[in-house]
Amino acid sequence: MWAGRFAAETDSLVNDFNSSIAFDSRLYPYDIQGSIAHSQMLSEQGIISETDKTAIHQGLNKVLAEMNDGKVAFTSQYEDIHMCIEQLLTEEIGDAGKRLHTGRSRNDQVALDMRLYVRDEIKSIYSRLLHFLEVILSCAQEHIETIMPGYTHLQRAQPITFAHVMMAYANMFKRDLIRLENTYELMNECPLGSGALATTTYPIDRERTAALLDFRKPCDNSLDGVSDRDYCIELASDLSILMMHCSRLSEEVIAWCSWEFKFIELSDAYATGSSIMPQKKNPDICELVRGKTGRVYGDLQSLLVTLKGLPLAYNKDMQEDKEALFDAIDTVKMCLDVLPPMFETMSVYKENMLHAAQNGFLNATDCADYLTKKGLPFRDAYKISGTMVAWCIEQKKTLNEMTIEEFKNFHSLFDTDIYQAIDLSNCVESRKVYGGPGKESVQKQIEQIRKFLESRNE
Ligand code: ARG
Repeated sequence: MWAGRFAAETDSLVNDFNSSIAFDSRLYPYDIQGSIAHSQMLSEQGIISETDKTAIHQGLNKVLAEMNDGKVAFTSQYEDIHMCIEQLLTEEIGDAGKRLHTGRSRNDQVALDMRLYVRDEIKSIYSRLLHFLEVILSCAQEHIETIMPGYTHLQRAQPITFAHVMMAYANMFKRDLIRLENTYELMNECPLGSGALATTTYPIDRERTAALLDFRKPCDNSLDGVSDRDYCIELASDLSILMMHCSRLSEEVIAWCSWEFKFIELSDAYATGSSIMPQKKNPDICELVRGKTGRVYGDLQSLLVTLKGLPLAYNKDMQEDKEALFDAIDTVKMCLDVLPPMFETMSVYKENMLHAAQNGFLNATDCADYLTKKGLPFRDAYKISGTMVAWCIEQKKTLNEMTIEEFKNFHSLFDTDIYQAIDLSNCVESRKVYGGPGKESVQKQIEQIRKFLESRNE
């Protein structure tokens, strides 16, 4: 390949070291798509003949079909996917194949391939995430009245509903979707025509190739065009945040299906057993999602560090962007494939959730609020309610189990309507405030996300 400048053969060790075909072969459809657009533009500009262009297109489509059929062995005799395709094309069509690379470099070629690939992968992650959000949404709708304890510091705090929790995650995933949209929008510019670094002297039409490949516009600076990997970092960052959300949700599920909580049970198809302990049913999926989150963070870190010291323009270090980004993308897709059916098939134990909410004085705030609404300053009411909780713990009873005389012993403002005020469903329902756990409020949250989904599914 380097014939001309080089007298000796490349050492085979160097060949192997240099070669990226083992991992960049997945870019072949994009490389061919880019070459078809490039040669189309070259012929339109009169840089190559119409006949050569036709031969190139036919040859490339043949190579594509062979690769789709798994007939091509991607061995390290080819340095990378770009060389591989060009070589196979030339074997197929002869001299016309050698004209394809006119006015182009592998530097703008690989920059283009990666952008085409990333655009596609953003779309496929996006549609998986839309589906997961739909699943979360129907889970919320189903459990809009399912009372459970809300926690802070993992201590029972105030009563909420399972729907309220689901909608918290729905909002996180909605932001993840918007982040993906923004990343797509910002990176949707075409680097083709940047050449090795300084474009070319051929009268190429960069607007035309950008349009043929459905990019918003060509990249504005050729040095930047070949060396920008911001979008890889940005996508890895979006994916890290998305994984962080999946990981937090997984952590909840792990806790919820423990014997200590028993709020849910995973379906047998989405849980695993132990090789020694016959009674075990383990939430491995969730643990793996949590574990793989670290892996995706690692991919982001690796991209950041790879790029940090690089002078303009292309440096071979940039070949290292691929495995990290591919790994992050593959990992996220696997997680998003397995989480939705796990949620769709799990059983929710409403009674256990309610029972947990009934113990732990989750209505102590409501008890204090009752006195406050009757005129007592909140701080005084807070103290009285706290004293009552301490007394109840001693007496081994809940606030609801106190007699009206016992209530009145703590303050004369207490009357029989206290029972209604500290009733759990009432505590939830009275939180009608925007964003709160009351049925009306959660229904509004569901509608908002539903509208968002509709606007994105159009
Ligand atoms: N395999 C290379 C990569 O992934 C392609 C670009 C190589 N360009 C070069 N001048 N060595 O980055």
